[in-house]
Amino acid sequence: MILRCSACARVAADGTLLCAACGDLLAFELDTAAFDPARVRALLAQRRVSNDHRDRSGVWRFRELLPPVPEAAIVTLREGDLPLYAARTGAAYAGVDRLSYLHQGMNPTASFKDCGMTVAVSNAHARGARVAVCASTGNTSASMAAYAARAGMHAVVLVPATGISESKVAQTLDYGATVLAIDGDFDAALAAVRTLDPTRVAVVNSINPYRIEGQKTAAFVLLEARDWRVPDWIVLPGGNLGNTSALGKGFREALALGLIDRLPRLAVVQAAGAAPFARAFASGRELEPVVAKTTATAIKIGAPASWKKALHEVRVSNGTALAVDDDAIADARAVIGRDGIGCEPASAASLAGLRVLAASGAIPRDADVVAVLTGHVLKDPQYVAQYHASGAARANPIVRVRDDAELMARIDAFVDSPVPAGR
Ligand code: F0G
Repeated sequence: MILRCSACARVAADGTLLCAACGDLLAFELDTAAFDPARVRALLAQRRVSNDHRDRSGVWRFRELLPPVPEAAIVTLREGDLPLYAARTGAAYAGVDRLSYLHQGMNPTASFKDCGMTVAVSNAHARGARVAVCASTGNTSASMAAYAARAGMHAVVLVPATGISESKVAQTLDYGATVLAIDGDFDAALAAVRTLDPTRVAVVNSINPYRIEGQKTAAFVLLEARDWRVPDWIVLPGGNLGNTSALGKGFREALALGLIDRLPRLAVVQAAGAAPFARAFASGRELEPVVAKTTATAIKIGAPASWKKALHEVRVSNGTALAVDDDAIADARAVIGRDGIGCEPASAASLAGLRVLAASGAIPRDADVVAVLTGHVLKDPQYVAQYHASGAARANPIVRVRDDAELMARIDAFVDSPVPAGR
């Protein structure tokens, strides 16, 4: 695989993070002509019944399509083999007939970051790195901490001192990482990380092209689970925009490999207070950074690093980008819970965005849609508990009972009442 600048296409040295000529982000280029689609499919089918630890990973199962990493250096926690769930309640809420969730929160550390992290940390391990570093709103840090612990590397994370989920920080600490809390937001933390020398420490934010390679496999897993039937739309939340870049790349490669015959359209949804990409997409101008503000703390990002790559993917797929406000995200998140699934706030931007796109007709009712859920419901229990105590439309507050008689009466009342529709 060749590493090139994503902007000027100049070939770059492996192990660097930015183009030496123009300073833009790097990307791997896969020689898709080297593969026969029938053989790829057959190999993948064969691997589904294999016990090789690489085949049990929904990332390393696609290893021929990834930058090479020596087998002995691979650090895997069986990430990436993600469920696609039918989303009945969500479909009715959004106003489409066919909706499923690709739940990336069902990863080992409960977010999509694991798919990229297994590749970035394995590569760092292969090159003998001793220290892994990232900036994070909480999920990248938890993921990096877990994989660095498995690899035997120091893990150092930079996080905003306030305004991120306590659970994510707790998870990061539990895996043994050193947490450096800064007086500043994610954008400030990432700016600090970008000044580090990548030959001294492994920088594993999504500016690292190995992260993108791992995350692109979610597109393959999704297509494989659908027997290579291409959805019409993929709707996903956008923050730093690594995941949009990665999924778009995955679908483009699947097309170039002959595994599919068209691209799904990508719809990127941002929180209204952190929507520089949606704004740039609408205006057709350069992205202008903002000071981000949203209760969906995972996507509280004002200067997304991968915006150019993501814009390319959205345009190539004939997709779109939009913003939804925090109340719409909160409402959609509660709806996702009612399907017995759940997700963290940022993830629900996908369903909230789909609802807007379906209402305007941009996504027709009969479209075949996949919404990407990026993180697990337990990633932000404080948010969830507050929502259910809040009196919001879909809140489900705790019922305080005073005595045994009330307890029994409340249970009895359910016995004769109609049950909710099954999923
Ligand atoms: N959803 C969740 C749950 C996230 O944690 C993130 C990003 C996103 C969506 C946005 O993805 O940045 O690829 O566009 N979280 C990063 C972190 C910033 O540090 O955990 P993106």
